[in-house]
Amino acid sequence: AGVFTYDPGFTSTASCDSTITFIDGDKGELLHRGYPIDQLAGKSHFLEVCYLLLYGELPSAAQLEDFEYRVTNHTMLHEQMQYFFRGFRRDAHPMAIMVGVVGAMAAFYHDSTDISDPWQREVASIRLIAKMPTIAAWAYKYSVGQPFVYPRNDLTYAENFLHMCFAVPAEEYKVNPILARAMDRIFMLHADHEQNASTSTVRLASSSGANPFACIAAGVACLWGPAHGGANQACLEMLREIGSPDRIPEFIERAKDKNDSYRLMGFGHRVYKNFDPRATVMKQSADEVLSLLGVENNPVLATAKALEEAALADSYFTDKKLFPNVDFYSGIILEAVGFPTSMFTPIFALSRTVGWVSQWKEQLADPQLKIGRPRQLYLGETQRDYVNIEDR
Ligand code: CMC
Repeated sequence: AGVFTYDPGFTSTASCDSTITFIDGDKGELLHRGYPIDQLAGKSHFLEVCYLLLYGELPSAAQLEDFEYRVTNHTMLHEQMQYFFRGFRRDAHPMAIMVGVVGAMAAFYHDSTDISDPWQREVASIRLIAKMPTIAAWAYKYSVGQPFVYPRNDLTYAENFLHMCFAVPAEEYKVNPILARAMDRIFMLHADHEQNASTSTVRLASSSGANPFACIAAGVACLWGPAHGGANQACLEMLREIGSPDRIPEFIERAKDKNDSYRLMGFGHRVYKNFDPRATVMKQSADEVLSLLGVENNPVLATAKALEEAALADSYFTDKKLFPNVDFYSGIILEAVGFPTSMFTPIFALSRTVGWVSQWKEQLADPQLKIGRPRQLYLGETQRDYVNIEDR
């Protein structure tokens, strides 16, 4: 009984109302609380964007200072959490570690799991934003067999992340400001993207009343897939596999072949049918970073540019409105910074945490909140009688 619509993949279903992020896919427009992403990426910085997403307005200087103080004072992980990292195989993917460790936070931070208490919700939000870089950096350190590096609260969010990833004992590590700015921009460009798969996963998990750490762990798990956050790793691996611009036609033909499931990674988007405004900023940033670092003639960037050009000159891609997305250029920057491809998706996860948390808070503040419970179109057998095993 009851009427419901059939919408596989939710291509035309609004699952909630929200005041956080607006996307106009036809115009290639992305606004956070009304502010265009290119303005934020050019003039703001990540923690200010976090404040904006969480609280709805740009902060005053005093509000920002207080927020930064609160975040930097929650960057440490409970010392016992190190056992979780050490329990993984050395070759574990950092995303596997993140899914586990983020969920395990509920076992350590009991005083921020009661979702009926607004203060606990606030503390959980700050803890997640503050600790995610530490978790990602420690997953990396563990994978390369180096000691964990504790957070330094005198550094900015991006500097501290680079410090925790690349500092080694007994050697002085000075964060390169060009790299810190590039990382901060990557964090901003990934901060939120309305009801994408991982955010919808967080909301669905939260609709049952699950604790915040469980909800965000669900988001991390969903993000890992190559059609979503895993695309940045897959994209760089694809560019490496292509190797040089002369091999591009072969890969384009594969992507166009209906009988081959191969896709060009970093191309296409469910909502953007013109261009992805994040990709425009990311492309500029990749160019800037490589030239500031003095990396001339980067073969991966050369292949990426030639691939973009070839795809945009091909009616298969233009007819289907498949344009480079945010993941197309981010990997080139991350590689220049010194990250292995396995760290690309964890960096997306730590950047998106603020989006997940903002949406989670918004959802819990909704007095109409109901458990998310989609229906289905049943195509199986109609009722039939059980057959005893000897008669089958
Ligand atoms: N290469 C080749 N063909 C493609 C691609 C691609 N990257 N993306 C879509 N198509 C084709 C697809 O085969 C389909 O063709 P047809 O209509 O003939 O069956 C048509 O375009 C529409 O594709 P779809 O899968 O129905 O579109 P969707 O909105 O469900 O999927 C997407 C969007 C992003 C999952 C998809 O474009 C894709 O798999 N892209 C590659 C992975 C990627 O870069 N993901 C990152 C997305 S942006 C960051 C994020 O959200 O995490």
